[in-house]
Amino acid sequence: MRLAAPEHGGVRASEAASVRKRRLSDVLGVALDGVDLARPLSEADFREIEQAFFEGQVLAIKGQDLTPEQFLAFARRFGPPEPHVIDTFHHPDAADILILSNRRKPDGSPAGLADGGTYFHTDYSYLQVPARVTMLYSVEVPSKGGDTLFADMYAAYDDLSAAMKQRIDGLVVRHHYGNRDDLDEQSRTAASRLSDKQKDKVTWVRHKLVRTHYGTGRKALYGVSGSSFDIDGMARREGAALLDELKRHALRDKYVYSYPYEVGDVVLWDDLATLHSATLTEPDDPRTLWRITVKEPCFETALRASSA
Ligand code: SIN
Repeated sequence: MRLAAPEHGGVRASEAASVRKRRLSDVLGVALDGVDLARPLSEADFREIEQAFFEGQVLAIKGQDLTPEQFLAFARRFGPPEPHVIDTFHHPDAADILILSNRRKPDGSPAGLADGGTYFHTDYSYLQVPARVTMLYSVEVPSKGGDTLFADMYAAYDDLSAAMKQRIDGLVVRHHYGNRDDLDEQSRTAASRLSDKQKDKVTWVRHKLVRTHYGTGRKALYGVSGSSFDIDGMARREGAALLDELKRHALRDKYVYSYPYEVGDVVLWDDLATLHSATLTEPDDPRTLWRITVKEPCFETALRASSA
């Protein structure tokens, strides 16, 4: 990987030689070692990182030591951060950072959002303009588990039969905040519970089932698990059955990679080209990450809002 010389900021020349790019698995994922996100990144450095992000679909930038402002500055290179509809666990110094944590404060109240997204989904698919990138900064790693699972939606689409591609290209799916497979608000694998006020902010939206990536031009299966509930022009049950069939296909082991965090990782994923799922951890085994989400640049994605 070529990174800019010191006068351009980002990575010092002496460090550039030690920047290493490696694949994380045969499925997806790229890791960069030797990058320091605490320094301002030149445009050229950012483009290199963005390329690695497009290539890997999941990009882990190892060994970071960031303040909230430094983490935000990096996120802003991808676009303006968009706070989550759950506005309860903002970082005290940076409202655009959502704290994911199973820790509790001294008064017993939660210090962060625990068990967030423990089912395959893609972020903000319940919004008209969904997420472009979600990034986590790993602050505290549990002694056991705590991985995030990622599934490759390019490969899942590419491997479909020609007949199935023809059947689904052009279909439009209705999405709503929630997990189609688990609507029990008490369950640890349902979507995180919203307050009545937060529920008022979410509505039905529509997205294409097969979407073309704005950066790579590749087609991907979009949101077949999570917030997708039915398909325009099909009976509800028929649409859900097709989504289930595609979900079973897209979540086969050969498309899934499990990322094991280390403290100091910044992990970014491409929401258009992947599905992801948190994994359940022991409530008393601390896990804390900071999360920032950036929405897609506005283009074809928002089809038609619906209150149906
Ligand atoms: C998320 O879906 O944003 C959370 C992922 C995780 O906590 O592993």
